[in-house]
Amino acid sequence: MTEAEVMDLSLADFFLPDGRDPLVPPDGFTAWLEAGRRAVSLYEPTLLQGPVPRTTLAAPDGPQRVINMASYNYLGLSHRPEVVAASCAALREYGTGACGSPLLSGLTDLHRRLEAELSAFLGREQTMLFNSGFAGALGILAGTLRRGDVGVLDAKCHVCLVEGARLAGARLEFFDHNSAASLDDALARHKACRRLVVLEGVYSMDGDMGDLPGLVPVARDHGVGMMIDEAHSVLLFGQTGRGVTEHFGCDDAVTLKYGTFSKAFAGIGGFVSGPAELLNYLRLYASSYGFSCALPPAVVAGLLAALAVARREPGLRARAAENAEYFRTQLRGMGIDTGASTTQVVPVMIGSDRALLYDLCQELRRRGLFLAPVDYPAAPEDELRFRASITAAHTRADLDQALNILANVVAPRVQRRYS
Ligand SMILES: Cc1ncc(COP(=O)(O)O)c(C=O)c1O
Repeated sequence: MTEAEVMDLSLADFFLPDGRDPLVPPDGFTAWLEAGRRAVSLYEPTLLQGPVPRTTLAAPDGPQRVINMASYNYLGLSHRPEVVAASCAALREYGTGACGSPLLSGLTDLHRRLEAELSAFLGREQTMLFNSGFAGALGILAGTLRRGDVGVLDAKCHVCLVEGARLAGARLEFFDHNSAASLDDALARHKACRRLVVLEGVYSMDGDMGDLPGLVPVARDHGVGMMIDEAHSVLLFGQTGRGVTEHFGCDDAVTLKYGTFSKAFAGIGGFVSGPAELLNYLRLYASSYGFSCALPPAVVAGLLAALAVARREPGLRARAAENAEYFRTQLRGMGIDTGASTTQVVPVMIGSDRALLYDLCQELRRRGLFLAPVDYPAAPEDELRFRASITAAHTRADLDQALNILANVVAPRVQRRYS
């Protein structure tokens, strides 16, 4: 297979099976993977240190120091001494795992404290914890929607939300990204059905915010409830860090607030906060809650400490925002397209040239910048990109060094398309 043939294909070409045995990948897949090894080697990199701004990757020629813009450690909490200390203390006291599902084997007092503190922080009656963000989305949607219902999702919603609605057996309707008119149409088409509007606080590949001021009134006019995914926005936006609902002053308009602990909380897990009556139902009908192990207590203790730090130090989210603004402004100054980003998620648009995306990515890594390539179908075919995650922990020197590398490697190759 030639390089050009490899680059003509994407994951979408190997989705549908061509043989009779589901345990055998489609024809040509393994040859494609082998031939595209240069590109494939950029995925699942091995880190020899934590997800900090300057980290070390395992590379063929030995450990490589890089500036890390690929981790979601937005407030830099993964290595805060009080977070690590709380986690270590719980590890000693409670051991390594919860060793059972919440329903049958129970939750520790630490889990109960986190539920209560999140409910108080978010101004909601109750909170449920999941052992992953992805599992949380599946559980919430499959626990609330039923066959015959309609999940009305923003077209840019994360795959976990799409798969949650699918798992429920509900009909999926996508409305154009952030379009009030398109949402109105979608809701009007299914007036007779039970409907749920699902959107995100900050879109994970584009770094723009959900247009709550435009969308909330439409859902309200149709009498339809909303669920928001604040994975990339909780602890980062709003006066007190509650997220984009607080930022836009519409906390009360969104019934279910869902988020993950894998980003600004720098841990793992997911949560949903909302009305007690609904969550009491969900505890019994969200399979990923009832039939899957509870979060390890040591993780929960770290999350409690991370929440306390984020609440006590609003300067952290201000720093993340300032850093992102600086980084984006500098990129735009170089003629690099950062799409619709207004947040700490900053796309570096490349366009439709897949070979260019991977060539540039190899060169960025070689020069010491760790950025994630985003290929189709995770982004539209003509909007392949890198996605930079800017954090409060990046120093001005980290940002400037990364910008310098981007100015030398990326700007000369993409400038003409966007300037
Ligand atoms: C918007 C969004 N929602 C949910 C998730 C799933 O969260 P987790 O990775 O914590 O399972 C992600 C993951 O990146 C995400 O970007």
